[in-house]
Amino acid sequence: MFLMAAIGSAVGLGNIWRFPYVAYENGGGAFLVPYIVALLTAGIPILWFDLAFGHRFRGSTPLAFRRLDKRFESIGWFKVGVNFFIAIYYAAIIAWAALYTIKSVNHAWGDDPESYFMKDFLNADPSSTYSGNVVWSILIVMILVWLLCIVTLATDINKGIGKMTSIFLPLLAVMFIILVVRALFLPGAVDGLNAFFTPNWSVLSDPHVWIAAYGQIFFSLSIGFGIMITYASYLKPRTNLTNTGMVTAFANSSFEVLAGIGVFATLGYMAAQQGVQVDEVASSGIGLAFIAFPTIINLMPLGGLFGILFFGSLFLAGITSLISIMEVVISAVADKFDIERRRAAVYTGTVMAVLSCFLFSTASGLVTLDIMDKFTNNIGIVFGAVCALLTVGWITGRRREMEQHINAVSSVRVGPFWQFLTFAATPVLLIYFLANEIITLINEGYEGYSSTQIGLFGWAVVAVMLIGSFVMPLIPFRGAQYLDGLATSDYGVPTGGREKGAPNPLAAGK
Ligand code: ALA
Repeated sequence: MFLMAAIGSAVGLGNIWRFPYVAYENGGGAFLVPYIVALLTAGIPILWFDLAFGHRFRGSTPLAFRRLDKRFESIGWFKVGVNFFIAIYYAAIIAWAALYTIKSVNHAWGDDPESYFMKDFLNADPSSTYSGNVVWSILIVMILVWLLCIVTLATDINKGIGKMTSIFLPLLAVMFIILVVRALFLPGAVDGLNAFFTPNWSVLSDPHVWIAAYGQIFFSLSIGFGIMITYASYLKPRTNLTNTGMVTAFANSSFEVLAGIGVFATLGYMAAQQGVQVDEVASSGIGLAFIAFPTIINLMPLGGLFGILFFGSLFLAGITSLISIMEVVISAVADKFDIERRRAAVYTGTVMAVLSCFLFSTASGLVTLDIMDKFTNNIGIVFGAVCALLTVGWITGRRREMEQHINAVSSVRVGPFWQFLTFAATPVLLIYFLANEIITLINEGYEGYSSTQIGLFGWAVVAVMLIGSFVMPLIPFRGAQYLDGLATSDYGVPTGGREKGAPNPLAAGK
């Protein structure tokens, strides 16, 4: 069941909503090469690292880092901060998917899904920093999404995360394949696919495309920001980590590439209709999936039914991922302050929900979301990953221990090459890309947004994550009983921590 929960976390909006627009913004086909390189050199190795780290140090992210070394609790809190901000915008997109499920019934988007999405649905006002103009339908559904997630995390329903995922993930896969196949037969689809699959080698020298690819892989695989660390902390001592990692990565990327094929085929069709090039066809990057899929649905027999199933499944895939994102924050608060999960879920969930509804249910939500997504991913996740890899690999010098841990429990064995990719190549590349990204954001901004918008929803968010990560360790660790007891069993896997009666949210159906 852990496998299902891991896939449920990985497969989410990142695959279907985020991947196509990031690929589109980064030159289409140009993106696929860095994406695959990032998957093989960083995605799978770091997924193994995260699983091993969580499995070995058995705690919420700050606790796991504190167990590694007392000085590094901060890194865990930085990752908690990243999850906090991702959660608050993620819920808004889930609400869009829920509303589009209903809108599918009568194709409420009409003949022009793009202008419907921007004007009628979001009432988007790109120039205002904060608009008090509430979009009521989005607000109401966002409140429902938050309630659903908080109740799920605060009650025993939580035990069913794995079970829930095993039902609708296959459903999503089937719906998705049908939609994508339909898209392939649209006139002009071939041009879209050419744009997606034709590599553009010149772009490989652009660091921004690379950081977008690494950021996408990390977001999509739920790695580098604590989710897999937290989930792995609940695993039984003997768990085949490498196999779990590979199956998760394969399932995740299959969804992603399929989404790319579906969306680009549709873009080809739209370009043919409008008589323009594929790279000029859609303007609202972030809403691409909400434009492309309705376009295909309009053209399908029984389109309404497909729309309901597709957006409904997308909604559910988003919920399981959001639950895993919230779990990082909740388990951290529960461990630190030694409070029951239930209460931690209600307290932290409420704070996130209020901020989320305040920022993302109004006419300025789209821009806020775009900026926050960019900064939390390309700076937050990447920076958090670099800190973790350098600390574990070099500052505390536990590279070999991580390798031995993986090999003690897994069927595929790792060795020096894994160590090289994880602790040397990836951090070096990431530091280079990160420096480039920061310099460009400072000099050129992002998407023409005003400096107030970028300052508030980008830089200030990064500052809050940094400040939080330094302040939190200053507060005494009330769940101090979790800090000891890392006894090591004969095959090198520590026991302790979670086994002391902590509830296991992934336990169902083991
Ligand atoms: N991994 C999750 C997603 O792809 C966060 O949406």
